[in-house]
Order: sequence, then structure tokens, then C-alpha cells
Amino acid sequence: MHPMLTIAVKAARRAGSIINQASQNLDLLNVSKKSHSDYVSEVDGAAEEAIIKVLQTAYPDHAILAEESGHRGDQKNSEYQWIIDPLDGTTNFLHGFPKYSVSIALKHKGALSHAVVYDPTNNELFTASRGCGAFLNDRRIRVAKRTKLDDCLIGTGLPFRDLTHIDAYFAMLKDLVPRIAGIRRPGSAALDLAYVACGRYDGFWEIGLAPWDMAAGCLLITEAGGLVGDLEGNETQLESGQIIAGNPKIFGHLLQVIAPHLTPALIEVQRAAKSQ
Ligand code: IPD
Ligand code: CA
Ligand code: CA
Ligand code: CA
Repeated sequence: MHPMLTIAVKAARRAGSIINQASQNLDLLNVSKKSHSDYVSEVDGAAEEAIIKVLQTAYPDHAILAEESGHRGDQKNSEYQWIIDPLDGTTNFLHGFPKYSVSIALKHKGALSHAVVYDPTNNELFTASRGCGAFLNDRRIRVAKRTKLDDCLIGTGLPFRDLTHIDAYFAMLKDLVPRIAGIRRPGSAALDLAYVACGRYDGFWEIGLAPWDMAAGCLLITEAGGLVGDLEGNETQLESGQIIAGNPKIFGHLLQVIAPHLTPALIEVQRAAKSQ
């Protein structure tokens, strides 16, 4: 394993044990709301600090983008940027609904180079390094082989915080549901993307995500032989929060159903992300 990935795994496992320990006493947690249905607990903060401590001890010059504390380090001049979601699926965690994860990705010169998604409940560790494949607990993983949309289990997430694009999303969902075998919305986008990488889902799409929800999962999928893209089929811009994923065939089929429902507002989000 590449030394940088080893450090990321160490950080993810440390966050995972903080999360697991706290999950035993959910009633005692300090919880606040950032906005409508956007919760943050003391565990999100503690897990994030633990991750950053491991990363900064090993690589003091690397820049960091983390959900709860934002930017640290020299974003302009550092070749390296860590992108961290310390607890993806906070609402699930707070309800004892066992679908949440830790997500850590490293960008080198703007390209995703290492990724970890860790599910502490099931002790499932998803890892990838650019050009070296994707793994689940050291076993090589690949995207699912199904090619007919008809047979596909598709994952998604609802854009429930900012309701601007909810009508466009429901139009996509309405068009897709009769064409597929089933749909799932567990509530941890990073874990959803890891599930595409290991073939549990045949495909996935979501809008309204943040870079830390998507970064690690994107590399897992491409290293597992899948495609990720924006809702027009172009290269994913993490800042757009919009993603379609699957094996190359299913990626194409999903795109055909979803892209026609893109609105000028959604396209503008993609454009703005591209020009950043
Ligand atoms: C959320 C989860 C969820 C997605 C939301 C995210 P958080 O992350 O990934 O699946 O639908 O958009 O914000 O806030 O629990 O880290
Ligand atoms: Ca959050
Ligand atoms: Ca998240
Ligand atoms: Ca989070």
C-alpha cells in the first residue's frame, strides 16, 4: 500500500473508533443544526480533528478541505489537498441507522490520487490509489457487470436541504423508476459510491452533494472500472455536487434518462463549478 494511503487508512480507522464508541451513547451527544435538516454533532468535530491530526503529523505542508472546519494550509501553493468528510451520514448516525462512513481523499496537482471510505459499523474499508485498482478489506473490487438497465439496482440521494432542484430531481426519478429493478437511498453518499465500486449497486446519481461527499468515492469507482461524470456526461466537477456513476454501459443508460431533465439552473451549477 502506498505510504500516503496507509496514513489515510490510519486516520479513517481512528475516526471510525471515535464514531463507534459514541454510537453506544447517542442520547448523551451534543447536537446542533447548521440549517434545515443539516445536523452536526460533537462526534463530527471530534472525528474530523482526529483525522486532521494524523494527516498533519505525517504531512504538515499539505492543504486540507474538511466539512466541519473548512480550509487549512496553503491551498494555492501546496501540490497536495486532503478532502475529508469525517462522518458522512450524520442523520443516520444520530438515529442509530447503521449507514454512515468516513471519507478521505487526496488530490495531487488537482487529480484524485488516493481514497478511503470506511464503514465503521461493518468494519468495511474501501481503498484506492490511482492506477492501482480499488479494494474492499484488501480484496480487489470491480463495478457490477450488468448491462441492461432493467436488471439494475440504482442508488440515489434526495436533494432535501436546498429544495431549488427538487422538481427536476423528481422528474428524473419518475422517469427512471419504471425502467430499473430497484432504487435505494440509504443516506451516506460516500458509502453509496463505494457500493457502486464493489458492485452492490449497478449505478448511482445524486445532485446537491459537496466535494467531501464525492471525492473518495469517485476514485474508488474509476479504479474499479466504472465511470463517473456530471449530469451531461462530462468530467465530474466535485464543486458541482452532481454525479452519475456506473459501469460504462449503465453510466450511458442512466445519462440518457437523467440528462433530458436537466434544467438551466442545474446546468448553471455545472458551468460555475467548471470555471472555479
Ligand atoms: C450527507 C450524506 C447524504 C447526502 C447529503 C449529504 P452528511 O452528508 O452524504 O447521503 O444525501 O447531501 O450532505 O452531511 O451526513 O455528511
Ligand atoms: Ca453534514
Ligand atoms: Ca457528507
Ligand atoms: Ca459529514
